[in-house]
Amino acid sequence: MKNALILYYSCSGNTKAIAEYTGSVLKDRKWNVKISNFDSCKTRNNFTDIDLLIVGVPVHYWEMPEAALRMLRNLPSFQNTYGFVFSTFGKCVCNSVPFHLAKKLRAKNINVLGGAQIVMPHSAHIDENTRVGDIDILLGKGEPNEENLKNIKSVLFNISEKIENNNVNSFDIKKLKNLHTRGFTANIMNVLMTTNMRRGVMPDILYDKSKCNQCKKCISICDYQAIEFSDDNLIVINKKRCKRCYKCIENCNTNSLYTKWDQAIRPTRSIQKFAKNNETRVIK
Ligand SMILES: Cc1cc2nc3c(=O)[nH]c(=O)nc-3n(C[C@H](O)[C@H](O)[C@H](O)COP(=O)(O)O)c2cc1C
Ligand code: SF4
Ligand code: SF4
Repeated sequence: MKNALILYYSCSGNTKAIAEYTGSVLKDRKWNVKISNFDSCKTRNNFTDIDLLIVGVPVHYWEMPEAALRMLRNLPSFQNTYGFVFSTFGKCVCNSVPFHLAKKLRAKNINVLGGAQIVMPHSAHIDENTRVGDIDILLGKGEPNEENLKNIKSVLFNISEKIENNNVNSFDIKKLKNLHTRGFTANIMNVLMTTNMRRGVMPDILYDKSKCNQCKKCISICDYQAIEFSDDNLIVINKKRCKRCYKCIENCNTNSLYTKWDQAIRPTRSIQKFAKNNETRVIK
């Protein structure tokens, strides 16, 4: 029986859902499948005897989130392991994230055989219960559709079949450079706007201390160590460290953390106009 390890980084569940979908495809082929986020997969024996490693990340500010990059760097080296990579994004901008993922995996001795960029509902919220991508087709509403899922399934079927039969063709990861959303204007924007500038247009995290129950979940969930507890039991957000990933808001059960989401919608929509080629695509 073949073994697959599926690792994901996910702030609001989209990437996790695709990771689980890829797992179900392999389970249908009777593979042994382990699905985990990077953080809970640290013990060494999780990484031995893996035939296929699938890694998925969301796109944040056109790039791979820095926290995911750090977690990738901490992966051990593999032996005789093939790879498949994917990014999920809100139909806006993606700077060849699958290619960058594949390069990082190659450095860990993994032979990447394909990759995908997958449109999902954009996870920036408008209010507690609604995401931009839930209301706007241009920002991923209704994705991933059946056809896209079928496409991903058929590529994974094909890859897993080849691994089972020891009949794997070589794959040039440079092909994954075609998974990006740059048109002419987006190329210029890409040079002009640094990641910090992109983050700068997104709203700060705000805190309603009257709702907070001091559970400290936000502190442990923040991958950038940007939240501390003050002596008087209040949350303090270090604005310099905060990357505005909004993972803390997603995970605060009392809605004590929030932001002015409407500020995020206009820049998101206008940046989206510059992007081209922002559909779900799979390459093998
Ligand atoms: C802070 C932040 C930045 C984002 N930046 C982009 C982006 O540059 N391009 C894009 O298409 N989608 C962007 N999105 C949307 C997410 O990439 C998309 O919704 C993704 O599927 C979220 O995955 P997750 O639910 O696993 O965290 C962003 C979302 C957040 C929260
Ligand atoms: S997760 Fe929410 S309720 Fe818990 S300490 Fe943080 S702000 Fe307070
Ligand atoms: S404090 Fe900033 S960096 Fe940390 S989880 Fe919240 S938004 Fe992300």
